[in-house]
Amino acid sequence: MKLNIAAFASHGGSNLQAIIDGIKKGQLDGQIKVVISNNSDSFALIRAARENIPHFHISAYTHEKVDEKILELMHMYDINIIVLAGYMKKLPDKVIDEYRNHILNIHPALLPGFGGKGMYGLNVHRAVIEAKEEYTGVTVHLVNENYDEGDILHQIKVKVMKDDTPESLAARVLTEEHKIYLETLKMISTGKIMLK
Ligand code: GRF
Repeated sequence: MKLNIAAFASHGGSNLQAIIDGIKKGQLDGQIKVVISNNSDSFALIRAARENIPHFHISAYTHEKVDEKILELMHMYDINIIVLAGYMKKLPDKVIDEYRNHILNIHPALLPGFGGKGMYGLNVHRAVIEAKEEYTGVTVHLVNENYDEGDILHQIKVKVMKDDTPESLAARVLTEEHKIYLETLKMISTGKIMLK
């Protein structure tokens, strides 16, 4: 199945870039049709512009009905999969409902551990180090109405080193995120992972 991807991102968009690069190298049968950010300063929007990918800033300040605007774009670009790549806003329920089981998120830890409200960015890695975990990792999962609770599609482990700081751990985990997101999308497009 060819993936028509809508990517949502709020900040740097390095995961978005990894997917763009993978598609360019022919590693994934898919296309990023549109990039959406709730943050007008997001570097993800610049990455999209550089690649000539249609991109939109959509937030409660710019649009009265965020859910309707998002769904309009999803239909316009014939989207069959939504990829959240560091998207810090909760997707509107209407969007989750219409695209149920076709929305992916990436989390920088081994869910169900170290997930839920407040568990984002360096908070996650700080908590992992404080808990003296031997391993952390990356999880790609489906998105439902509750933070970090959808079915897990793919997970890999990353060793926590003795002298890791939240920053050093985040950097090592991020490198793995770039690989696993592309790999998961590939498994979906080749039918190794079947979405309901
Ligand atoms: C990643 O660590 C991801 O797991 C989390 O947000 C971060 C986004 O990084 N959801 P980037 O914007 O893709 O560089």
